[in-house]
Amino acid sequence: PSLSMHAQDGLLMEDVPLARIAAEHGTPTWVYSANTLRRRFRALKAALEAAGLRASVHYAAKANDNQAVLRVLRSEGAGADIVSAGELRATMAAGIPAGATVFSGVGKAPEEIRFALEAGIFQLNAESAEEIEMISAIAAGMGVEAPVSLRVNPDVDARTHAKITTGRAENKFGIAFEDAPALYARMAALPGIRPIGIATHIGSQITDGMSAYRAAYARLAEMIGDLRGRGLPVERVDCGGGLGIPYRDEPAPTPEALAGAIKSTLGGLGIPVMLEPGRWLVGPAGVLLASVVLQKQGSARRFLVLDAAMNDLMRPAMYDAWHGILPVSPRAHVAPLSPADIVGPVCESGDTFAKGRLMPAMAPQDLVAFLDAGAYGSVMSSTYNARPLAAEVLVDGARAALVRRRQTHEELLAHQRIPEWLD
Ligand code: LLP
Repeated sequence: PSLSMHAQDGLLMEDVPLARIAAEHGTPTWVYSANTLRRRFRALKAALEAAGLRASVHYAAKANDNQAVLRVLRSEGAGADIVSAGELRATMAAGIPAGATVFSGVGKAPEEIRFALEAGIFQLNAESAEEIEMISAIAAGMGVEAPVSLRVNPDVDARTHAKITTGRAENKFGIAFEDAPALYARMAALPGIRPIGIATHIGSQITDGMSAYRAAYARLAEMIGDLRGRGLPVERVDCGGGLGIPYRDEPAPTPEALAGAIKSTLGGLGIPVMLEPGRWLVGPAGVLLASVVLQKQGSARRFLVLDAAMNDLMRPAMYDAWHGILPVSPRAHVAPLSPADIVGPVCESGDTFAKGRLMPAMAPQDLVAFLDAGAYGSVMSSTYNARPLAAEVLVDGARAALVRRRQTHEELLAHQRIPEWLD
């Protein structure tokens, strides 16, 4: 939907030819579609409303924390879900108030907790008894009451990639289900803490239907009923993120299905629900634009060597993730196809984006676009092999703007020093 093919200009992002963006800003470059972000945010809100849910959407900024992306979502009414003081600074700088922001994460440092409380954070999701004591001491010392939800680990299997599943008992996340009620009661007794709710997040890229969600939320509903029965207040419930997208041919669940699962399990509690989606909102809204450096005929296979590498888009190397890869030129779309391994120039075999992918013959400087690269793309980049961080461009209709300029080689060296005794 954000991408289309034009007979002369090749692939367009909204109304802007990707080839023009490459000519202006070079490659590799991340390109985001503002209207795709808006459309997806509205679709999610509409599904929640249609289900009759009182719900707030807290965008998981870790998926893409570019200021322009955050601003588009802010304008649509998004709050934020953050996991560090850095993300809180980023979301606040883009205009998302701390009062609409949830702070998740197993290892919030004392300075981060203090910073969030000073900023007026909407909710801290606590993940351990130790953290709760820490929050209590800090907040009481500041003379404030910290709004704390307890992140519960429901021990369900989200059946996603092992590195991104979070809701099993063996994961580091959340409080064991059995321990949660006693801890919630303890929160109510501690100074500096206002227990406000229960939270969970069972994993990411969930494409396996709604059964894991339903199981987790049903357990939450039961626990909330139990807590209320003991006279403990539960003002809201945070359903986490995780809604998957089809990178290839996965049967991705819809926001309507998620809203239905929430409604049928938590809807009867009569309290507002919160969501923390990341990937579903921004993944399909971005591509990574790259150039072919050369086409190399190896002894056994053909390699397309790109100027983008694993340091830019890490997901294939890290999770064996599949991303669609399309040539940008209109000619390439009518050319005969044959298998190619698509690789980057980094000195590791893991720097492979795709194996045996059907691609046309390509020449140096030909462009390709990696699809669904808007989430966990640029944010996971590194400068491995002394490769500067890529540029980012936002497209909005016929307009395109550079929203992060390419890092320079000078900037890469700027923070390093040689001790004088080595001279
Ligand atoms: N809430 C919490 C507490 C989370 O830990 C996460 C993601 C989210 C919300 C947002 O999840 P989403 O809606 O985006 O699935 N780098 C991996 C994904 C890691 C997800 C970490 N937590 C990837 O590239 O697939």
